[in-house]
Amino acid sequence: MTIKALEFLTSEEGRKILEEYKNVGIKDLPSLAFKLSKKKVPFFSEIVTLLKLRSQAQGKFVKSQEMFFTDDGLEQASGERISSYVARRIKELIKDGTVTDLTCGVGGSAIFLAKYLKVRAVDIDEVHLSCARHNAERYGVSASIEFIHGLAEDNLNNTEAFIIDPQRIRDGQTKTRSIYNSQPNIVELLPQMLKVTENICLKISPAFDYEEILKLPGNPEIEIISEDNVNKGAFLWFGQFRGVARRATIIDGDTEVTYTGDRGKNRAETAAALNKYIYIPNKAIIKAELSDEVASRFKLHRISHQNELMTAHELINYPPKVFRTFEVLEYSAFSMSKTKELIKRKALDRAHIVARHFGINPEDLRKTLKLKEGGQHTLIFTEWAGEKYVILGRNI
Ligand SMILES: C[S@@+](CC[C@H](N)C(=O)[O-])C[C@H]1O[C@@H](n2cnc3c(N)ncnc32)[C@H](O)[C@@H]1O
Repeated sequence: MTIKALEFLTSEEGRKILEEYKNVGIKDLPSLAFKLSKKKVPFFSEIVTLLKLRSQAQGKFVKSQEMFFTDDGLEQASGERISSYVARRIKELIKDGTVTDLTCGVGGSAIFLAKYLKVRAVDIDEVHLSCARHNAERYGVSASIEFIHGLAEDNLNNTEAFIIDPQRIRDGQTKTRSIYNSQPNIVELLPQMLKVTENICLKISPAFDYEEILKLPGNPEIEIISEDNVNKGAFLWFGQFRGVARRATIIDGDTEVTYTGDRGKNRAETAAALNKYIYIPNKAIIKAELSDEVASRFKLHRISHQNELMTAHELINYPPKVFRTFEVLEYSAFSMSKTKELIKRKALDRAHIVARHFGINPEDLRKTLKLKEGGQHTLIFTEWAGEKYVILGRNI
């Protein structure tokens, strides 16, 4: 998208066209593109792309239908629920100061911060910055944001705190996980930011590598945030923002549950045998390495200290999405032929598959076992005390 195209899309004429076609389904967009091109509508291809992006953004933003995005801008934008949570954490400390968002993109973080605080929103990409400005208007917060077209590196001043969500440079087709491949280069920029203020919130890929993070200055808190049991963001909290060593936050609709701890401080007990129920902690808890803390809190036994599967005799109560729970129907030492025999005996044509510390990934197991996804059962493949096991569970 060019700035010229965005100017057209945000003009009265552009908005009218977007409004007229707002209900066109994704699969009908190619024919809409054809129709608009025949009518010589300017920027028809950008119109169709924006309609597609608005529809894809529905899960991220309540006002997605009125917002402006680029492909990258939407993909990299933090969703509304996570941004609101992060903004509330920031405003607890920075009561009425200014926060600088050094890489504001299309405004995913800045808009929600601006509900509580004065924000300086910086971005080097003028199309992203312009999208952010229009999106802030839609949320009624533009008066609280100063938009700055420029480099993060040149805007390290006049602020009580920083938030930064660097661009992750792609390595071929895969999303890179290394903080060394970020723009701006966070490893170089962070020491300069820390000289201005230690109150920094740094967003990184949830697939980060702990070894890299532990080398950073400032000893930040590491928080992992999941939605629908998918790790959507990881945040490093420096200075006075740092509350604990590790935090796992689970967002489920309007509920937020947080578990905190210092990894390894609280060793959970391990199980002598598999009990009636199996619990698999939420992915945020696993990535934050807080499985021991959570097992102790809910009086569960871990299968082993290397394996985050947990077991108990009882069905326990827990806030939504903290665990996936299964009733153990049967289990045995693993072999592919025994597993096939089990599937036949139970007449299963579909099941969920979970593999933990197993050495064969779920997709390969599914292909070999010729099982469809879904249904009431889960086959759990795992290693325990050096032996491989297959467990048939009923989903609770
Ligand atoms: C991951 S996106 C930010 C997303 C944003 N937090 C949101 O939720 O919408 C990263 C942004 O950093 C910007 N960027 C990359 N290098 C920059 C630099 N050196 N200075 C300022 N912005 C930069 C990119 O243009 C991009 O918009």
